[in-house]
Amino acid sequence: MKPVFYALPGNETLASGLADHMGAAVGSLEVHHFPDGESYVRLHTLPEGRKAVLVATLARPDEVFLPLAYAAEALRGAGASEVGLVAPYLAYMRQDKRFHEGEAVTSAAFAQLLSGVVDWLVTVDPHLHRRTSLDEIYSIPSLVLHAAPCIGDWLRSLGRDIFLVGPDSESRQWVESVATAAGAPYVVLEKVRRGDRDVEVSVPDAARWRGRTPVLVDDIISTARTMIATVAHLREADMKPAICIGVHPVFVEGAYEALKSSQVARIVSCNTIPHITNAIDLTNLIADGVRRLAGGPLLTARGV
Ligand code: R5P
Repeated sequence: MKPVFYALPGNETLASGLADHMGAAVGSLEVHHFPDGESYVRLHTLPEGRKAVLVATLARPDEVFLPLAYAAEALRGAGASEVGLVAPYLAYMRQDKRFHEGEAVTSAAFAQLLSGVVDWLVTVDPHLHRRTSLDEIYSIPSLVLHAAPCIGDWLRSLGRDIFLVGPDSESRQWVESVATAAGAPYVVLEKVRRGDRDVEVSVPDAARWRGRTPVLVDDIISTARTMIATVAHLREADMKPAICIGVHPVFVEGAYEALKSSQVARIVSCNTIPHITNAIDLTNLIADGVRRLAGGPLLTARGV
């Protein structure tokens, strides 16, 4: 039996794309916020014994988590045989250790919360840095998809001479695989972050690639300070204007505008979070992942 897809507000385009791809239905889900801030959730399409797939990117996790938990409760109450989650962007992955005494390890705490709400999880390029697998913190089956082949295809379609630039050592995993997919050389820089919006990167040894268009690749663009600092150094090194690619366009307030005004050639992202920069469509990739998790025994699918 085909699953039914339910979009949390803002995720309608991806939910209907996934349903189309799988020949499945989209269910209607209402989320309302009362004046006091509490949430009201109601299903207008009942799952009636079918598998349900919630589609909710987690770019604003504190706002989204409770409606998501209530939607899962409503689905179970209405007879869903299982409740899966497509969260193309998985939040709370960066605080993966206690950097200072007394801090919460929110990646592990959030994983426990989410594992208590849904039966399985499909996501794209979570920020796995000090951990190697979601299984270390999630107790539900999860499937990690990688955007690199789609980004590589997009870069090839440009038909330009490019070289890839990773702003810091954490970006190496993404830059390396995009460079392989795009058939282009790459460099990885060193980053020092002094505060939320205070970032410095090393001067790149990129002079040998002068003449090619630099393509910055990172998993997350949040304040965009990392990209802006890298772009500034490339400019100082007399490189061509850069193309900036983020898998996850989180873009906090003002970040997109700030990056845009730093003389970049283009800003591009994957549609893991709806944003004006979405140019690389991962719908087919995600649909294949959902088919693997929702299509068979839950415990057989882990990590692609
Ligand atoms: C962190 O290591 C990530 O890979 C990104 O580099 C970081 O989240 C980007 O943040 P921002 O856009 O705030 O500089």
